[in-house]
Amino acid sequence: MNVGIIGSGNIGSTLARNLKALGNTVLIANSRGPSTLAEFAAETGVVAATVEQAAQARDLVIIAIPQLAVSNLPLDVLRANAAVVVDAGNYYPTRDGVVAEVEAGATDSEWIASVLGRPVIKAFNNIVANSLATRDALSGTAERVALSVAGDDVNAKKLVESVVEQLGFDAVDGGTLAESWRQQPGTPAYCKDLNAAQLKAALASADHAEIKRYRKEADEAAAPYLKPFKG
Ligand SMILES: NC(=O)c1ccc[n+]([C@@H]2O[C@H](COP(=O)([O-])OP(=O)(O)OC[C@H]3O[C@@H](n4cnc5c(N)ncnc54)[C@H](OP(=O)(O)O)[C@@H]3O)[C@@H](O)[C@H]2O)c1
Repeated sequence: MNVGIIGSGNIGSTLARNLKALGNTVLIANSRGPSTLAEFAAETGVVAATVEQAAQARDLVIIAIPQLAVSNLPLDVLRANAAVVVDAGNYYPTRDGVVAEVEAGATDSEWIASVLGRPVIKAFNNIVANSLATRDALSGTAERVALSVAGDDVNAKKLVESVVEQLGFDAVDGGTLAESWRQQPGTPAYCKDLNAAQLKAALASADHAEIKRYRKEADEAAAPYLKPFKG
C-alpha cells in the first residue's frame, strides 16, 4: 500500500516504522517539515514528506496529531483524496481545550470527521505507543493483543482491520463512528492491552451515561504528561 502518516510523534513514528517493515511505501509528515524527518527516514526507509504529500497518499492516510491540530491540516487535499483516512487521536481537554461539540455529545472522531468534511475510521487510539511497538504477536497465540476499529464504511473498516492484523494485533469491530465513544479515553477498552474476547467484553460494558466521567478521569491521569496545544 501507499500510506501517508501525518504526525511523527509517539504513535505516528511507530506506525510508520512498522508499516514500512511490512513492505508498504510510507510517507510521514509533521508540523516542522520533511528536513526534520531525514534521520528517521534514513533509519527506517520511510519517505520524509510534507503534510500535503502525506495527505495525498493513495490507499491510507493516518492522522496522529493532537485533536485540535486537525483544523490546521490541508482540508481540501484530504477531501479530494479517496484513500481511507484513520483518526488515531484522542480528545484530552487539558491539551485540546474544550471542544463544545464533543462536550455536547459528538464522539471524538465524529468531530474530527466534521472538521475534515469527510469520513474517518477510528483506530490505534486505544493502545499506548510502547505497546503498539512491542506487543505484536502471531495470530492465534495467547499473548496477541486486540485493537478495535470503528467507522461507518464497511470496506474502509475491512482495510483498516487488515492493517491491524498485519501489524500483529487482532482486529475487533468497534461499531459505527457514533459508537466509537466505547474506545475513547477512560473507557474499559482504553489502553489496557486486552485480547479479543476481553476487548469485546470491555467495549460492551462501557456505559454511555459515564462518558464525561471517563473523559475527566483519563484527562486528570494524563494531565502531568500533556502540554496545552498552542496551534
Ligand atoms: N502517545 C500515545 O501512546 C498515544 C496512543 C494512542 C493515541 N494517541 C493520540 O494520538 C495523537 C498523537 O499522539 P502522540 O503521542 O503521537 O503525539 P506527539 O508525540 O505529541 O506527536 C504529535 C505529532 O503531531 C504533529 N503535528 C502537530 N500539529 C500538526 C500539524 N498541523 N500538521 C502536521 N503534524 C502536526 C507534531 O509535529 P512536530 O513533530 O513537528 O511537532 C508531532 O509529530 C494524540 O491525539 C494522542 O492523544 C497517543
